[in-house]
Amino acid sequence: MKNVLILASGKGTNFEAIIKYFLSKKRLDINFKLLCNKEDAEVLLRAKKLGIEANYLKFSDFSGYFKNRKFDLVVMAGFDRILDKDIIKTNTFINIHPSLLPKYKGLNAIKKAYVNRDTITGITIHYATEQVDEGEIIYQKQVKIDPRWNLFRLEKEIHKHEHFYYPRVIEKLLGLNVLIIGSGAREHCILDKMLQSKFLNKLYFADGNNVFSEFGEKIDFESYSELAKKAKEKNINLVLVGSEKYLCSGIVDIFKKENINIIGPDKKNSKLEASKLYAKNIMKKYKIKTSPYKKISSKNKIDKYVYYFKNPVIKADGLAFGKGVFFDNDRRKVKNELFKFLSGKYSDASKTCLIEERLFGYEISLFSFWDGEILLNMPLCQDFKQNDEGLNTGGLASICPICLNIDEKNKLEKYIKKLENMLKGEKIKTPFVLYSGLMVCKDDIYVLEYNVRLGDPETQVLLNYIENDWLEIFFAQSNQMLDFVKLKEKNKEITCVVLASKGYPLKTRKNIEIKNLESILNKEKNIKIYFSNIKKDKNRYFSMGGRILSLVSSDKTLIYELLEDIDFEEKMYKKDVEIEQ
Ligand code: AMP
Ligand code: GLY
Repeated sequence: MKNVLILASGKGTNFEAIIKYFLSKKRLDINFKLLCNKEDAEVLLRAKKLGIEANYLKFSDFSGYFKNRKFDLVVMAGFDRILDKDIIKTNTFINIHPSLLPKYKGLNAIKKAYVNRDTITGITIHYATEQVDEGEIIYQKQVKIDPRWNLFRLEKEIHKHEHFYYPRVIEKLLGLNVLIIGSGAREHCILDKMLQSKFLNKLYFADGNNVFSEFGEKIDFESYSELAKKAKEKNINLVLVGSEKYLCSGIVDIFKKENINIIGPDKKNSKLEASKLYAKNIMKKYKIKTSPYKKISSKNKIDKYVYYFKNPVIKADGLAFGKGVFFDNDRRKVKNELFKFLSGKYSDASKTCLIEERLFGYEISLFSFWDGEILLNMPLCQDFKQNDEGLNTGGLASICPICLNIDEKNKLEKYIKKLENMLKGEKIKTPFVLYSGLMVCKDDIYVLEYNVRLGDPETQVLLNYIENDWLEIFFAQSNQMLDFVKLKEKNKEITCVVLASKGYPLKTRKNIEIKNLESILNKEKNIKIYFSNIKKDKNRYFSMGGRILSLVSSDKTLIYELLEDIDFEEKMYKKDVEIEQ
């Protein structure tokens, strides 16, 4: 149980917004109380109506009141007195102020911005100190002032922002319960970052591999509705989803119905990843450059289309988990493969295909965090997809950051503008990560594909390259607060090399022991090791085929030394990973 005290003196609209927010989330684990220094304040009536315990206390008695009382948080919501040092030091106090502090401290802040004809004002939520409107800023939101507004209209706009953001900041400060869905090294990395966050209360996972139980509590489920119901019971504040398999089958729609914060697109927008044809149409609509293509669903057209392109690439329209792309200089092989695709090599996903012109250049992955209003672009990553036989895999290595030259940077900026137009134009309100798989060619930057989630193994390098509290970033993203996130980048490049099983991405052997993993994990501290297809049995680890571990460090030599040391007879990894440009 968390105990929160709200201090108010006036009407209590902020108080009401806070209570209603938590009531709508059915948060029975938080106990709110009101303390008011005015006997006839309207806020006391509001509290009564909302069923919240409320007390009036003369301000001169406040000091005695706080002496022996400890709350998880004390929230000042329209409280008209300054608290002295003795009171402030008893608890954590936060305050909200209707300006962009340090501008317009004290009374009449909205009016001052209005009278001065400011074009921008806003709200500030900050820790309270014994000085008026001082203290570390927790969150600020800008509000643009429309010159046609009168003062009343501006006040309304400011209050709307206060009522939206104050409860969310309180939610974060009380500690967050996070659920991570998925089982790969990407998910393990996210889990690891959550554990490092100062805002984490409790970590849950679903569908994870059996090593994850060392980090959090597992939630079993048969259906998304069951998972959402359990998430609600456990007061989960944020759900992070790793793989497209959940997103493209509509998990977000179900969680949203339950009013649970989740990052990911709804089913309709997940088609950006689930259907390459859908993505191509959107790109066309927003004049985003991509390779020219033809749709093909009839085997009779194979000959015509394979010779239509200079260097044909074939792609399954639907999800084929990184394997639904094929190209070869030998057109006969392309024809054969296209025949297999259309015959259902990837079941329904490949019964409709695209055939497009091959692009030449180098690939980069851009992760754009969309919060419904604001787009925050992460430093670029590179993913190494091909194995030694030239087959496309889910990704065998990654590096972050990738630096572009000035000309390429300008092109990327132009691309990002179009991306923003697309997200706004399509009125996408759900927060999600748009992953642009890009090819930097001589003449321009082209989109190869869209995904609607973080990449694997790019996550492993990106999350270790950015030094921010990642739970803060994800929580901000899920609450339209990305504008306040300032990314802190490491001054070292981060590399990830994947340990996979021989034969990957084709047939691999399972249940093979990785003999010395336990001792390696205990020994090496300058390297992060994330688990994917692995099973732990007591202190022994067994590979389950495909990608097994992700080794992540700023010290590439160390990664390769460790890979050499790993005692695993099915060992396969990409040698000499270097940025390709
Ligand atoms: P996709 O699933 O569309 O990202 O394709 C997987 C991989 O296939 C990409 O990361 C590229 O390496 C390659 N690829 C896809 N389309 C093309 C293309 N038009 N030209 C060259 N390579 C491509
Ligand atoms: N790195 C490729 C993917 O996540 O799809």
